[in-house]
Amino acid sequence: MKDRRIVCRCEDLTEEEIIHAIEEGYDNLESLKRYTGATTGSCQGKGCLMHIIRILSQKTGKSPDEIGLTTQRPPVNPVPLFLLAEGDEK
Ligand code: FES
Repeated sequence: MKDRRIVCRCEDLTEEEIIHAIEEGYDNLESLKRYTGATTGSCQGKGCLMHIIRILSQKTGKSPDEIGLTTQRPPVNPVPLFLLAEGDEK
């Protein structure tokens, strides 16, 4: 059985799927994100973004600085539950 290296646990994406998408032409971070769904899970890429950038860097020869970052949306940083529970009940 072939190794199945999970890169993005939220979207259940393997390294092989990411490499295949890059070879299909989705060779920049934003288009790779939209095509595969990588970094769009509940952790917003916290668990996979750096792995995706590493793979993109290896496959394209671009440096991580050239690749850049995706737009990350809340909750990238943890939000205490009591803040979410507070409402207009006063
Ligand atoms: S591990 Fe990829 S979005 Fe969470």
